[in-house]
Amino acid sequence: MYVCICHAVTDREIREAIDRGARSLMEVQSCLPVASCCGRCEATARDVVEDHLHAVPRRSAA
Ligand code: FES
Repeated sequence: MYVCICHAVTDREIREAIDRGARSLMEVQSCLPVASCCGRCEATARDVVEDHLHAVPRRSAA
């Protein structure tokens, strides 16, 4: 589904950013323009980030 209408960012793209190593909405925003215009999607985007962070095993910080 589209999370960010302004920039057509989907929940899948946010989850993929987390799978590539992002660990916060701010880090997701370094590769996706989510929540960078009107900001109405920020709460939903943050929920997608938090849900996926808890769904995937954490990588060890070596
Ligand atoms: S809906 Fe995401 S910035 Fe407007």
